[in-house]
Amino acid sequence: MGKVLIVYHSLSGNTKKMAEAVAEGARSVPDTEVILKTGLDATIDDLLACDGIALGSPDYFSYMAGGLKDFLDRTYYPSQGKVAGKPAVAFGSAGGPTDKILRILDQAIGWFKFRKIADSVGASGGVSPGVLVECRELGKKLAEAASAA
Ligand SMILES: Cc1cc2nc3c(=O)[nH]c(=O)nc-3n(C[C@H](O)[C@H](O)[C@H](O)COP(=O)(O)O)c2cc1C
Repeated sequence: MGKVLIVYHSLSGNTKKMAEAVAEGARSVPDTEVILKTGLDATIDDLLACDGIALGSPDYFSYMAGGLKDFLDRTYYPSQGKVAGKPAVAFGSAGGPTDKILRILDQAIGWFKFRKIADSVGASGGVSPGVLVECRELGKKLAEAASAA
């Protein structure tokens, strides 16, 4: 049984749609428990208990959204030495190019010493059906890695 935690922030719904598609993909893997939470709601216990994590954020002013950063800020010290190597993926949306937000999410994966197991998914200028397919695939890969962890 793999437990997948998806933590995201979204004001206008783009990143939320992506998070829900990641969750759908993860649920397609048998015996997977999916916890889908905003960064403001997710806790250190969620992080410690999961077998794999997905981080999702819009680009707000060329950085990750405050809601996701709040989660990372609150959990960084209490998770030190306890989460290294956890499988991780990232997804992000932006009005323009997604390279900045995806790079920042990659950095976050590095700060926590998670193990990135798939290429990130970005949505520029809205969430297309193709992006949702990519997000479902991302969730499936994460759940497979989580159940093997
Ligand atoms: C406060 C704010 C700042 C933003 N700054 C940027 C930015 O620097 N670069 C960019 O490409 N898009 C920017 N955007 C657009 C959002 O990244 C984009 O609309 C995103 O898909 C919103 O995600 P959400 O619907 O999950 O909130 C900004 C949006 C807001 C609300």
